[in-house]
Amino acid sequence: MEQIFEDIWSLAEEYQDKRNDEGHAKTVLKYAIKLLSILPANEKIVIPAAILHDIGWSQLSKIDRMKIFQDDISSKERIELRIKHENEGVKLAKIILEQVNYDANLIEEILNIIEGHDTRTNFISKEDGIVRDADRLSIFSKWGVDSDLKIRKKINPQKYLDLIEDKLNKKYKFYFKESKQMALKELEDRRKEYSA
Ligand SMILES: [Fe+2]
Ligand SMILES: [Fe+2]
Repeated sequence: MEQIFEDIWSLAEEYQDKRNDEGHAKTVLKYAIKLLSILPANEKIVIPAAILHDIGWSQLSKIDRMKIFQDDISSKERIELRIKHENEGVKLAKIILEQVNYDANLIEEILNIIEGHDTRTNFISKEDGIVRDADRLSIFSKWGVDSDLKIRKKINPQKYLDLIEDKLNKKYKFYFKESKQMALKELEDRRKEYSA
């Protein structure tokens, strides 16, 4: 990774993975880089946005941060929390990007992606598409499946894989067909791992 991306990563590190989801930022970054290798998009926008997309969670109270995983909160409250982590993420990302003297035009595009990455229904650019596809892909990664199964101890791994496959086919919107193919391939790998 280029030095400036390493610098952004280091400055962001203390704000990462604050929902007991250690490894999330790294996993999203990994898929963003993988998608960049097969799709044409500006890595100077994608990589910082992928690194910084979820740092806003660190600015919410621990209770609020973890509420998102509860089934008994209202959809209104869930949306409010999601919007809050996006807005806090924008503020914090701006500080970090200015600290490394990032190109001002690029900063704006990166912040626009962070601002709606979890709540916007449409995509604003192919860079936005890559970041959000990479965020989705993390669910199907070895890290994602292993950590979710650790939290939901009661669910059988095969059932869990069926559940996320169903979401993949019916609920999740990917911007690029290549991302969906990648998710299907990941799922196939997880099935092999969990049936072994
Ligand atoms: Fe997020
Ligand atoms: Fe995320």
